Amino acid sequence: MGKDVIVACDFASAESTYAFLDRFAGQRKPFVKIGMELFYAEGPSIVRGIRERGHKIFLDLKLHDIPNTVKKAMAVLSRLECDIVNLHAAGTGAMMEAALEGLTRPDGTRPLLIAVTQLTSTDQRAMENDLWIREPIGEVVMHYAENAKRAELDGVVCSPLEAAKVHEVCGPEFLTVTPGIRFADGDVGDQKRVMTPAAAKEAGSDYIVVGRPVTAAPDPVAAYLRCVHDFVD
Ligand code: C5P
Repeated sequence: MGKDVIVACDFASAESTYAFLDRFAGQRKPFVKIGMELFYAEGPSIVRGIRERGHKIFLDLKLHDIPNTVKKAMAVLSRLECDIVNLHAAGTGAMMEAALEGLTRPDGTRPLLIAVTQLTSTDQRAMENDLWIREPIGEVVMHYAENAKRAELDGVVCSPLEAAKVHEVCGPEFLTVTPGIRFADGDVGDQKRVMTPAAAKEAGSDYIVVGRPVTAAPDPVAAYLRCVHDFVD
């Protein structure tokens, strides 16, 4: 898979998600991210429904549990035929290896598996006070990325500001999937460290994850196509 724009469909129901996706009829079909809210509300049928409409899917459930539990959960998710699934690198190398094993289908195929390093909502202070991790957050992100690489995962979710460094440390093939994308003339909202689609392309992101700049735009299709123009074309 090459560079692409992934649209975060952070909707509360299948009905609102399909109404949103219907607007793209006759257009390029967006790569869709399904998060916890929508998946917990609708269950596996939402994945099948969106896939049947011809979209690629990133199932963003961020698994984190003991290796055996994650392995079994990943085996279930592998049957949904998503394109990308993820977990927390904080679950350790053993958990990531077990996840990869569970995700691999009997015929040897599997979705891409990527790891969340540190959530963009976690800052240095929270990491030190709540998680008791004393190192600089940038180094922690790289350490987690290296752990994911060692476990043979396909990449990480990170800030576009970290994409170049991740590629430097883990290699150009190691995927960087980057949220925190905003248009230069758009609202930043609750995202703290943001980049435009064009800057993320420049920084070497492989996939950008874009939510509200597309979903809340007056013309979501035009906003999506603007991302594609700036990031992919
Ligand atoms: O609306 P917005 O563009 O901020 O949406 C970004 C999407 O990426 C949301 O679905 C959010 O949960 C997700 N995300 C993020 N930061 C991370 C991991 C995921 O913003 N570190």
